[in-house]
Amino acid sequence: MKFKSLGYCIFTWVVLAISTFSYGQKVTIPVETKNDALVLQTDSQDRLWTVYFGKRLSSKSDYEAVASQYHFSDDNAGLYNNAYTPSGTWNLSEPALEITHGDGNPSTELKLVHYQESQLSPNTTLTEIQLEDPVYKTGVTLFYKAYSEQNVIEQWVSITNREKQSIILNKYASANLFFAGKDFYLTSFQGGYLKEMQPFQEHLLQGVRAIESKLGTRAMLLGTPNFILSFGGPAKENSGKVILGQLAWSGNFKLEFEVDSHQSLRFIAGINPYESAYTLPAGVTFTTPPLVYSISNQGTGQASRQLQDWARNDRILEGKGERLTLLNNWESTYFDFDEAKLVNLIGDAKTLGVDMFLLDDGWFGNQFPRNNDHAGLGDWQENVKKLPHGLGYLVKAAKSKGVKFGIWIEPEMVDPQSELYNHHLDWVIRQPDRPEKYYRNQLVLDLANPEVQDFVFNIVDHLFTANPGLAFIKWDCNAVIYNAYSPYLHKNNLPQTELYVDYVMGLYHVLDRIRAKYPKVPMMLCSGGGGRADYSLLKYFTEFWPSDDTDPVERIFLQWNYSYFFAAIATDCHVTNWGKEPIKFRTDVASMGKLGFDINVSQLSKSDLAFCKSAVLNYNSFKDIIWHGNQYRLASPYINPYASILYVQADQKRAVMFTYLSD
Ligand code: GLA
Repeated sequence: MKFKSLGYCIFTWVVLAISTFSYGQKVTIPVETKNDALVLQTDSQDRLWTVYFGKRLSSKSDYEAVASQYHFSDDNAGLYNNAYTPSGTWNLSEPALEITHGDGNPSTELKLVHYQESQLSPNTTLTEIQLEDPVYKTGVTLFYKAYSEQNVIEQWVSITNREKQSIILNKYASANLFFAGKDFYLTSFQGGYLKEMQPFQEHLLQGVRAIESKLGTRAMLLGTPNFILSFGGPAKENSGKVILGQLAWSGNFKLEFEVDSHQSLRFIAGINPYESAYTLPAGVTFTTPPLVYSISNQGTGQASRQLQDWARNDRILEGKGERLTLLNNWESTYFDFDEAKLVNLIGDAKTLGVDMFLLDDGWFGNQFPRNNDHAGLGDWQENVKKLPHGLGYLVKAAKSKGVKFGIWIEPEMVDPQSELYNHHLDWVIRQPDRPEKYYRNQLVLDLANPEVQDFVFNIVDHLFTANPGLAFIKWDCNAVIYNAYSPYLHKNNLPQTELYVDYVMGLYHVLDRIRAKYPKVPMMLCSGGGGRADYSLLKYFTEFWPSDDTDPVERIFLQWNYSYFFAAIATDCHVTNWGKEPIKFRTDVASMGKLGFDINVSQLSKSDLAFCKSAVLNYNSFKDIIWHGNQYRLASPYINPYASILYVQADQKRAVMFTYLSD
């Protein structure tokens, strides 16, 4: 195997290496970050194997030498460490890829045909490895994007049908990793409404442990696509090898951790194959979502700082930018408000000194007014009784007071009590011949349908065109998908098993259109709390709402857990009336992310109001450190009767430390 240097090109991407090898020759392909390396190697039949995952070594020949540790010599040798395990031939372990070919044959074999490494930026390389089935010519490209400084790798796969007929993708994982070793610990994050992101650490034993969602939308409600893998012992904050990351997909996901008969670990992550067989017509390519992970040899603290840095630099919308502090009316009014009350609340936002007033649920619906959570979703016209002069009046009222105005929507949903439901039953996900089953009294719209995509885009577009001063959107998604059945797929003779994937693709498509027209308007990603925080959606959103649980003590734990994966700039934290703690405690906890308030300002005591005003001023003086600095989880509330988190400015000249002591 020889590298052919192409030198520098005039393209933005610089090709560092392309493959020139003869078949049967051993090819070694390292994917390297500053500290670490993942190394792949072919065998004499051009099949590709993972042969190393560890600290970066000084030369390629060193990788060839350490690769021998992955060579096992019993009957199971060669079954486990395939770089992307196909099915139906020699492999008898859990596959990453399962295809039914055009002629009905379920076997796939993959061999290396080409690879290339390109320098995308001084910090980023992209390795593309093309594999092909020698019989069916189905093409699979493995992509590895390595962010050197952050020790972060993003990997995904594309599958191209080069047959004459359609093929069916039954399983199409994003990543198939392999770690040789003897002892692995997994921390997964599970929970439910008001109990998001609860960590569970377990020692992985032989067999398969799967973490998955089948909820359709709001995928993180019960289990999340986040994981921490620790090697050689339970995860520690400041020492030991860990990888920590997420499958960045906003629908059903599956993470499979399999300890094999050699006590090595196989990790397959991707879209959940449950009810998701996907037909790929001839000539068409399917691209999976990415698995993103940060590799650390110094525990979870460093892994999180790396991932947060990556997220700010490369993923979250406006990750290096500014955010708006706010006053939200949800908990002070719920659905019970009118124009006069809102104008007063806008005045309260001004009094507090925050940047924006955020009008929450309840402002829309006329035939079916949104006066509670049973009616109105889908009818996105101002309620004329509550807002006789429309939203424009409020936007202007805010402007005249020098605060910005934001608004809540939940555009993917419909209440059966709505004009939309009455006029467009064909847009609703439901089983035509079975009773409807509701989550929070609502149903999900069929985003596989391009007309529904237009409808959702137009809700946002209309809000911005009718109210040019509108500064912010809170985009909610409260329901899961029950009775998964798409009238659109049915009408177009497409398989129902494509709904779960097409829904998410449809959502991304709408968001692409919104961001093409409104590239920077800040948007909060909400899903009845943190049901949807993932790095595919955070490309479009500036921030997310972690939980409706705003009890400040519970929040210390919750924000601690989110911080493993998310930067504070993207984590919205509001001061509310939950909990018994004094205002200072509540404000401090909310100041550890992007600060907001959801309290009745007019009912605050004089001293509490004065304190809140000074807390906003104080926050403004250090928010830059919270938003853009490095975060250190100093003392865990899980193991101490206290908790402490430190934020340090990049140049290490300023820092803010929060410490809480339990009674
Ligand atoms: C969800 C959100 C809340 C609020 C309500 C409105 O529960 O998480 O913050 O917006 O919806 O109905």
